[in-house]
This record gives sequence, C-alpha cells and structure tokens, in this order.
Amino acid sequence: MHTEQTFAIIKPDAVAAGNSGKIITMIEDSGFTIAALKKVHLTRDQAAGFYAVHSERPFFNDLLNFMTSGPAVLMILEKEGAIRAWRDLMGPTNSNEAPKGTVRGEFGTNIEKNASHGSDAPETAAFETAYFFSCFERV
Ligand code: CMP
Repeated sequence: MHTEQTFAIIKPDAVAAGNSGKIITMIEDSGFTIAALKKVHLTRDQAAGFYAVHSERPFFNDLLNFMTSGPAVLMILEKEGAIRAWRDLMGPTNSNEAPKGTVRGEFGTNIEKNASHGSDAPETAAFETAYFFSCFERV
C-alpha cells in the first residue's frame, strides 16, 4: 500500500440536493486529503471527453444529459490505497444496491443518479486527474 491519488466527482444530483458538504465531510472523516477541488458546470464536450470510454454504450446520451444538468464538484483525493478506498466509500455503481453509510447508499437514487464518481484503476486516475486539473491546481 502506498500514498495514491484518485479522481472524484460529486455529481449534479448530490450538489443540487445540497449534499456536497456532507460528502466532503465523509471523505475527510475517512482520512483522505483533498489535493484539489473545484465546482464546475460541465459542458457537453467536457463530459463526452471524460466519459469517452462509454461512448458506444446505450446510456451515453442520458449520462451526458445528467452530468451537464448542473454544477458538479471535482476533486483529487489522496490517501494510502486511495483508488480502492474511495470506491469502497462510494459503494456500488447502482445506488439501489449501495449500503447505508456509503455515499451512494446515503445520497444516490439509482444507477444514473448515483451521487459520485471515482477512478477505477491507476491509469484512469492519472487520465482523469490530468483531464480536469493542471499541475498548478493540485497540491
Ligand atoms: P460512473 O462511475 O461515473 O461511470 C460511468 C457512469 O455511467 C456510472 O457512474 C453510472 O452513473 C453510469 N451508468 C453506468 N451504467 C449505466 C446504465 N446501465 N444506465 C445508466 N447509467 C449508467
């Protein structure tokens, strides 16, 4: 285990519901350091580039509509084993299957409106953090 960075989004559903502060508290209470943070209303092009791996999936258009429906909070989180730890704290992708005490279990609605995103591997964490943050915006 080593100190690692991962990319996190508090998605528009959770921001609109006023839950970003509670989610950030969960993150800090779980021992993460927030290495970068900004609130952004994504454009369609920004969202499409970020989710390019899903461009052939049937839910892609709905995903872009949702991710551009309002502001999101973008973060780089740091901790030992951060990628796994943030995915564990979020819970499963489908909020209906996420246990209480996880971000998606507390604040998500379904598989689309699932409150949060996290990188799934070191390569995606490197791509996703660099996609949204320049070297001057991260500590
Ligand atoms: P996320 O971790 O941001 O990565 C891709 C997103 O696509 C995922 O969270 C879900 O919000 C969304 N997604 C995955 N599968 C489906 C699906 N079957 N229908 C709608 N959205 C989906």
